[in-house]
Amino acid sequence: MKKPARRGSSANPGRKRKAAGTRAVGQGRQDRRLDPEVERWIASAEAGFPPARSSMIPMLQAAQTTLGYLPRDAMQAIAHHLNVPSATVEGVASFYAQFRFNEPGRHRLTVCTGTACYVRGSGKLLGEIQTDLEIAAGETTADGAVSLESVSCFGACALAPVVVLDDKVMRQQTAESLRKVIQDMSADPPAPHPDGKGDATTRGADA
Ligand code: FES
Repeated sequence: MKKPARRGSSANPGRKRKAAGTRAVGQGRQDRRLDPEVERWIASAEAGFPPARSSMIPMLQAAQTTLGYLPRDAMQAIAHHLNVPSATVEGVASFYAQFRFNEPGRHRLTVCTGTACYVRGSGKLLGEIQTDLEIAAGETTADGAVSLESVSCFGACALAPVVVLDDKVMRQQTAESLRKVIQDMSADPPAPHPDGKGDATTRGADA
């Protein structure tokens, strides 16, 4: 596995850097074009959200659902729609842990470090996987294959230690079982995406 890249880094070769879009944000000399993907999203979303501050969080959630994370362009487009400063939207978004600001990998591997899982070895498990992937929790591998995360409890403590791959819950994991999972998904090429991007393919794993 290659060196880590912060999610959203241009070092992620699986994701092409986007070309200029068609909608401008900012004012005066700071006008610039939006990312085309954000442009498409905001064009379809605007009608569903009144231009009021009460729309801010619902719009942030909608953007993240569609885009997978909150690129700065999306927050600026929301600010433009709501007629508030971009810093206001970014400040609100950064307050909530539910929002992600970096592009996720094709697969999300989430290790539970809650008490039940921890006493059954999930802390050591996370450490070993971080070493193997050469990234810390919250980062994505440079090839864009895996985003590693940790949570405090999945609510499935009887299955500890629990790891979730994308939306697949895997019970009683060990470093060895996880290495096999990672090996399989690293060899799994991203599915074609309508926009030519890698897709967040959900791959099955034994529960
Ligand atoms: S502590 Fe891990 S699922 Fe509850």
